[in-house]
Amino acid sequence: MSEKRPTLAFIGGTGDLGSGLAWRFARVGFPIVIGSRLADRAIKAAESLSATFARGFAGMANIEAARAGDIVFMSVPFENHRTTLESIGSEVRGKIFVDTTVPLVPPKVMRVQLPAEGCVGKRTQNLLGAEVRVVSAFQNVAAAHLKSEAETLPGCDVPVSGDDADAREVVVRLAEEIGFKAWHAGPIDNAAVAEALTSVLIFMNKRYGIAGAGIKIGGTPTKI
Ligand SMILES: NC(=O)c1ccc[n+]([C@@H]2O[C@H](COP(=O)([O-])OP(=O)(O)OC[C@H]3O[C@@H](n4cnc5c(N)ncnc54)[C@H](OP(=O)(O)O)[C@@H]3O)[C@@H](O)[C@H]2O)c1
Repeated sequence: MSEKRPTLAFIGGTGDLGSGLAWRFARVGFPIVIGSRLADRAIKAAESLSATFARGFAGMANIEAARAGDIVFMSVPFENHRTTLESIGSEVRGKIFVDTTVPLVPPKVMRVQLPAEGCVGKRTQNLLGAEVRVVSAFQNVAAAHLKSEAETLPGCDVPVSGDDADAREVVVRLAEEIGFKAWHAGPIDNAAVAEALTSVLIFMNKRYGIAGAGIKIGGTPTKI
């Protein structure tokens, strides 16, 4: 990754997944902006990152965070996906937008329930429009594994879907910078697989007593 690292913004960055990803990227030196519906909550979360990594991080309301980020991650509950996108959409034009959303419909979170568009990733791309390069990733990563000093997180590979191959490559490299094995997984429609798989993983966690099951892609690549 070139010297000047992009600023990463986390919409819903006060939650389990958003704060976990922000923690791992902060740990390897990225400028981080924590977003929240409430600026005070974001500032508090950023202060805790600053205390952990002894350097400054920013916290602000989601719309300011979306404006401040070069690359914008979103991790809010599925039921708030559309309203959150509508509230920040104008600030992410021309950017890479990383959607981590899983279409979980409580209480049946162990049942696959994909939206009419086929997957959340597709809905996001449709809602944000062609000026935003939407990439879908991290759906199968259990947040509980993220805030660890481990250099690599071998327990879960990261499929990365999106219509723009260059944008996918940026996210594949970002995921590998924080210790994951990441894979190009094709166009945004293919996000349906990772999104659906999370309900199966939640079922397996319960059935087999696993603390955050993950996936591994088999086979030895002969091309990078
Ligand atoms: N947890 C995991 O292991 C995991 C793994 C993979 C994918 N995911 C996906 O990541 C997303 C977030 O999951 P999570 O476990 O991190 O959720 P979470 O901790 O329950 O919530 C994440 C953040 O979303 C914001 N939020 C809550 N209600 C909202 C609303 N009504 N409108 C807008 N924002 C709201 C909150 O931020 P503020 O109150 O500060 O605004 C909260 O901190 C979900 O789509 C989930 O499927 C989670």
